[in-house]
Amino acid sequence: MSMLEIRALRKTFSSKKRKVVAVDDVSFAVSTGEMVGLLGPNGAGKTTIIKSVLGIVQPDSGEISVNGYCPNRQLKQLLSRTAAVLEGSRNIYWRLSVWENICFFAGIHGVSVAMGKDYFEQLLTTFNLKEKRDSEVRLLSQGMKQKVAICCALAKQTPLVFLDEPTLGLDVETSYELRDVLKVLVQNEQRTVVVSSHDMDVIQDICQRAIIVSNGRVIADEKITNLLALFASRTFRLVIADAHHPELLEVLTQKLPHMSYSTNDRQLILTANLPQANDLYSLIDLLREHGAELETINQEAPDLEKVFVSLMRKERERCNGT
Ligand SMILES: Nc1ncnc2c1ncn2[C@@H]1O[C@H](COP(=O)(O)OP(=O)(O)OP(=O)(O)O)[C@@H](O)[C@H]1O
Ligand SMILES: [Mg+2]
Repeated sequence: MSMLEIRALRKTFSSKKRKVVAVDDVSFAVSTGEMVGLLGPNGAGKTTIIKSVLGIVQPDSGEISVNGYCPNRQLKQLLSRTAAVLEGSRNIYWRLSVWENICFFAGIHGVSVAMGKDYFEQLLTTFNLKEKRDSEVRLLSQGMKQKVAICCALAKQTPLVFLDEPTLGLDVETSYELRDVLKVLVQNEQRTVVVSSHDMDVIQDICQRAIIVSNGRVIADEKITNLLALFASRTFRLVIADAHHPELLEVLTQKLPHMSYSTNDRQLILTANLPQANDLYSLIDLLREHGAELETINQEAPDLEKVFVSLMRKERERCNGT
């Protein structure tokens, strides 16, 4: 069964001057125990989708259900199953200590200190916040405040968690800690997580599926492995010892018009798209004929960032009618 279902969601914001269609006929479902990435450029509609689920934004039309509950008629039941860290919001009380915040937010979700103490302590350890346990949150750094907000959301132990830009402001090490925590959450606790992020590396690392939105519409909803396979290229990077190979370069630029090359003080680096396996063998034969010593050869692996940029480019071309 789906933990989250969104059907034909639409939201427009109107001001005197203009009307913005923030969410335009968005539909998707997220299964229990799935971790999904919600991606899209600034203003794509990600936060509006999340806020619509949480009842913070009132959509114009469409249906939303969390474990069978909808925000219009059963908001209380829906919110008791959902935790969220929203971008740029004060998700926590700055005058309370780290521990008090965790106990407070878990408490209002029905997780008492007696019930949750061990888990709360575990969260503090995982996020390296033990030393700050009794510090007022207002005295913590930006990244630490973000970590506390995430701890408070997780401490509620809800089946569905929304994290809107969770790694914003986190240092590299903490970002990795968060990834590990989220992976465990999904694998061991079967919790469902929707993460919005501009950090493609994070999404590629932790999510099974990505939903990509642009101008309020879903333009891709695919397993990340499928997205990567779709954009897998046969681009190879060959490093050749000794940068001085004028004859070889002349032959190569004639035979491989899309090849590019660069040199440093001791190497020649070729980048070429070789669609057929035979193209690669022919290139290696040419190198051998010209006495060029091949140091390394790598196939460029696609990453989610490249996929995302390429999809956005296509989408822009489609919108511009080119
Ligand atoms: N309260 C509001 N009033 C008017 N317009 C709004 C409001 N909230 C969002 N919008 C507009 O709706 C569109 C979608 O915004 P949203 O915040 O959902 O995008 P986003 O995908 O979360 O972007 P980002 O990556 O920058 O966080 C934008 O054009 C934004 O200006
Ligand atoms: Mg946003």
